[in-house]
Amino acid sequence: MIHVRVLPDADAVGVAAADIIDAVASRPGGAVLGLATGSSPDRAYREIVRRNAGTANPYRRARVFILDEYVGLPPGHPERYAAVISRAITTPVGIPADRLNAPNPDLPDLEAACADYDRTVSEAGVDLQLLGIGGNGHIAFNEPGTPFDARTHVTELTERTRRDNSRFFSGEIDRVPTRAITQGIGTVLGAGELLLIATGRAKADAVAEFLHTEPSLHLPVSALHAHEAVTVLLDEAAAGAIDPSRVQPSVRWQTADDRFSRESA
Ligand code: F6R
Repeated sequence: MIHVRVLPDADAVGVAAADIIDAVASRPGGAVLGLATGSSPDRAYREIVRRNAGTANPYRRARVFILDEYVGLPPGHPERYAAVISRAITTPVGIPADRLNAPNPDLPDLEAACADYDRTVSEAGVDLQLLGIGGNGHIAFNEPGTPFDARTHVTELTERTRRDNSRFFSGEIDRVPTRAITQGIGTVLGAGELLLIATGRAKADAVAEFLHTEPSLHLPVSALHAHEAVTVLLDEAAAGAIDPSRVQPSVRWQTADDRFSRESA
């Protein structure tokens, strides 16, 4: 089931996402959190850090797994995703470095690195996986055409993804790696709950296609229709192209009284 909540703006989306992540992190025994990089979770991470920095907080017991990692950036490069996540959230809330897990792109045998990471993620059992959505409908770095049962693998990034991400590399697409290790769609679907965040007009077409379309390989995010517990948080701009009469049967809308219905508010 996909629960869609439309909020006025990106700040409200960040606060709502932080509420959901905080609740999972606070579960007794410590949570296993799957975190995403990119711009979509920025506000949520800032809000979580604001609420939890410098205090005894539930995140200190959490284990974190990231979705993906570039291949080809040297250790210590500031855009390595493990470094990005460490700066954005895990270090500020006090998660020890040895509980931040990422695929290792430095091993000579990348296939072995993928298999190892996939096994570690699956054995840990991710409680909540945070996701952004690419303009082409990718989730993690599963580009269009990736089978829905794919496990962690090395992927070639599309030119569109590299162009979108060039903003983190001084606008120069040639500096964006061509390959990455990514959790597969099948690995992502193994998480207990999924939380997808999309904000801004640039995501509106991909979001609408996701909610309108039956699962289809050309749109990796459409694999989420088969998951039992998906929350989608959108701002009004990202929700702008949805036609409520065309959404898939798996979609529910959050209503003003916090219930979910087949009808949009
Ligand atoms: C990031 C990731 C990607 C991004 C997606 C959206 O770890 O796996 O799928 O979530 O590319 O990126 P932003 O949020 O920068 O628009």
